[in-house]
Amino acid sequence: MLKFEDVSFGFTEELFANVNFALHPGEIAVLTGKNGVGKSTLLRLCNGLLKPTKGRVRTAGFLTDEHKTSSLARHAGFLFQNPDRQISKHTVAEELLFGLSLTAPDTDEAEKERLLNAITAEFGLNPADEIFTLSKGYRQLVAIASVLITDPALLLFDEPTVCLDKHQKKTLADGISSRIKAGKAALIISHDLEFIDILDCKKLILKDKVIKE
Ligand SMILES: Nc1ncnc2c1ncn2[C@@H]1O[C@H](COP(=O)(O)OP(=O)(O)O)[C@@H](O)[C@H]1O
Ligand SMILES: [Mg+2]
Repeated sequence: MLKFEDVSFGFTEELFANVNFALHPGEIAVLTGKNGVGKSTLLRLCNGLLKPTKGRVRTAGFLTDEHKTSSLARHAGFLFQNPDRQISKHTVAEELLFGLSLTAPDTDEAEKERLLNAITAEFGLNPADEIFTLSKGYRQLVAIASVLITDPALLLFDEPTVCLDKHQKKTLADGISSRIKAGKAALIISHDLEFIDILDCKKLILKDKVIKE
């Protein structure tokens, strides 16, 4: 699902050097590491928003430097650190269907309706709600649902639980786990011990410019 082959990257200074790691179908990896070490940057390399300066990143079988982020997005669902960066529409339904219209433009109306009903029921969302009236936790769930409605093979989540309460974290962990059981994979940046504890996952740390288990 995801493969780093001798990947180096930096903006001014090198953040990683010769990173190698792989994530297989059915695996969840949680990535930790100190503030500013480069975790969010590493996630952006996974969906091609950034390209390695050396080495190769393969996402769902595609080399990221040979494919546009927009086409990789059909396979890799990306959640930014702040949900409000992700949200662009007025109502929950509009937001969720917008993501789908980008990655699966051929979806017919009946299927859209079915997917919308399923994902809103799963995350306790109301399709008619205006997003700006929702709490930050629910806005985060809207952002998460807008990724999951497209059913990506690889989930790339940056600090998904920051504004979630205990119940919402459990809903998210269950949602991720059921997709992993169906053969997807997930790379999740998180320091939330309560959340990591309920996920059956591999633990990775970004330290000294490499990823360690
Ligand atoms: N677009 C950018 N241009 C230049 N430097 C950046 C950019 N984005 C992040 N950085 C720097 O790269 C380092 C790693 O950032 P980031 O990946 O956000 O770390 P983390 O997510 O681990 O806290 C930080 O020092 C940050 O200031
Ligand atoms: Mg970060």
